[in-house]
Amino acid sequence: MGLGPTPSQRFLFMASILVLNGPNLNLLGTREPGHYGRTTLAGIEERLRGLAGELGQIISFQQSNAEHVLIDAIHQAPSQGVAFILFNPAAFTHTSVALRDALAAVAIPFIEVHLSNVHAREPFRRHSYFSDLAAGVISGLGALGYELALRAAADRLAKDNTQN
Ligand code: DQA
Repeated sequence: MGLGPTPSQRFLFMASILVLNGPNLNLLGTREPGHYGRTTLAGIEERLRGLAGELGQIISFQQSNAEHVLIDAIHQAPSQGVAFILFNPAAFTHTSVALRDALAAVAIPFIEVHLSNVHAREPFRRHSYFSDLAAGVISGLGALGYELALRAAADRLAKDNTQN
């Protein structure tokens, strides 16, 4: 019919999902496996890449041990077409007003993900600077939590698309 974007244009317009991981999560696989399991971050990302393909979503990944790098990634997200963020802020969950403010500033919906059940550990892990801003929180389901979060994000984006 000649109406609407071509497939390649549609690809350009398609919103993406950013998976952002905070400090020490590069050590997954060997880091405290009793809390975090034995799956590496590369393993989690591989599974998410496969699932994103099945769900027809574009996905990208970033991990950093530095707060300012995570903040910069959040600042850049709108201009990169990121429509949803899956975020494990790791230890910054319990400390970072700056990351909270960055997410509030860009107003991109996000799901807070934790491998461990932060409510069943030390009391200082019970407080999150993100949970009240998050679309949802997944904690304690290990690597599967990221996959469930991706399914929820894809579902949300599909609903947003049909409403527009
Ligand atoms: C974590 C929980 C945090 O308390 C901790 O500092 C982490 C990982 C999790 O995925 O369970 O680094 O976010």
